[in-house]
Amino acid sequence: MEHRVGEVDDVRREGCRMVEVDGRPVGVISVGEEFFAVHDRCPHMGASMCAGSLCGTFVASAPHELVYGRHDRVIRCPWHGWEFDLETGRSLLEPRRVGLKTYPVTVEDGVVVLHS
Ligand code: FES
Repeated sequence: MEHRVGEVDDVRREGCRMVEVDGRPVGVISVGEEFFAVHDRCPHMGASMCAGSLCGTFVASAPHELVYGRHDRVIRCPWHGWEFDLETGRSLLEPRRVGLKTYPVTVEDGVVVLHS
């Protein structure tokens, strides 16, 4: 099913636009030229992920070396800081056990469209 989220420029300006999909709140998040959609309730205690922040994380590297990566591909919960991969929805700490549902998003004729 397709859900029209809004004009590309409007969603970009807002950064995160809330929509309802099958009765659930979903945040459509603008990052550069791309859009991502995640369930808007943190699995920890239910904070709105749309109120969170985008960041990166340390990525696999050589021993004793810290390498920052995945810039703006991680969303951090505003309440207690749980972090999730924006593309997969999986928790960075417990990816096999915890995650946010994600939805594909496309742009069609200048309109952001979420697919469920
Ligand atoms: S409610 Fe999201 S980390 Fe606690």
